[in-house]
Amino acid sequence: MRTLIFALFVGLMSISSAQLMASSKIHLDPVEIDLSDKASLQRGATTFVNYCLSCHEASFMRYNRMAKDLGLTDKQVAENLMFASEKVGDTMTVAMRAEDAKKWFGVTPPDLSVISRARGTDWLYTYLRTFYLDAAKTTGTNNAVFKDVGMPHVLWQQQGYAGTDDAGHIEHASGGSLSTYDYNTMIQDLVNFLAYIGEPSKIQRLALGKWVLLYLFIFFLVAYPMKKAFWKDIH
Ligand code: HEC
Repeated sequence: MRTLIFALFVGLMSISSAQLMASSKIHLDPVEIDLSDKASLQRGATTFVNYCLSCHEASFMRYNRMAKDLGLTDKQVAENLMFASEKVGDTMTVAMRAEDAKKWFGVTPPDLSVISRARGTDWLYTYLRTFYLDAAKTTGTNNAVFKDVGMPHVLWQQQGYAGTDDAGHIEHASGGSLSTYDYNTMIQDLVNFLAYIGEPSKIQRLALGKWVLLYLFIFFLVAYPMKKAFWKDIH
């Protein structure tokens, strides 16, 4: 009976995961996220405040919290990463008014605080690398994973522009200041940063996790001989 239930369970699981895979037709490029890589997070933060914060906010994130997590001083953050705010205890908001944004782009750019959890990091990594020229759009570009997106290709200076071939496949971007490898790294750092702001306490949790495991291990060394001693006469 138990094997039967188990077989049924495994069967159901494989059907649903196959369905899931079939429903996500768009190919996403996988990206490695490393929240312990402070240098990467710092580079991502720099890109974010320079190229994204003018339209998007990350209103759940405070600058001084970020300073601490990224291994920077408040002063370094104030001097290098703060353009839209005045105090280091402020959250990352934008100067642009939501009504203006709506007028200019047709949609208000969403808050990016938890976008990594809503979309997933692979989606973000793919999205930020697949803008392509599309004359039918007012922004001049379209996107492979977000059709008819209202956002222009803001990193065109770095990546350059990609056209499409006759079959509609996106070609290699060219004309940017960065090589494909360097652009991918830039986006990886940016997505790493977006993953971090989506769950800032994860850094501490990961660090704490090691100590918890060590504690459990030591506890086991004590508890196991004790269990043996207690049950000695019964078994
Ligand atoms: C010029 C303004 C502008 C800038 C700068 C900008 N965006 Fe956007 N972005 C938008 C708009 C407008 C949308 C909404 C698009 C839509 O819904 O059609 C958007 C949408 C997005 C989305 C999709 C959100 C969703 O609904 O899932 C992501 C992710 C995103 N932007 C990330 C970024 C990142 C990262 C940067 C910095 C490299 C950036 N954006 C810079 C205007 C901007």
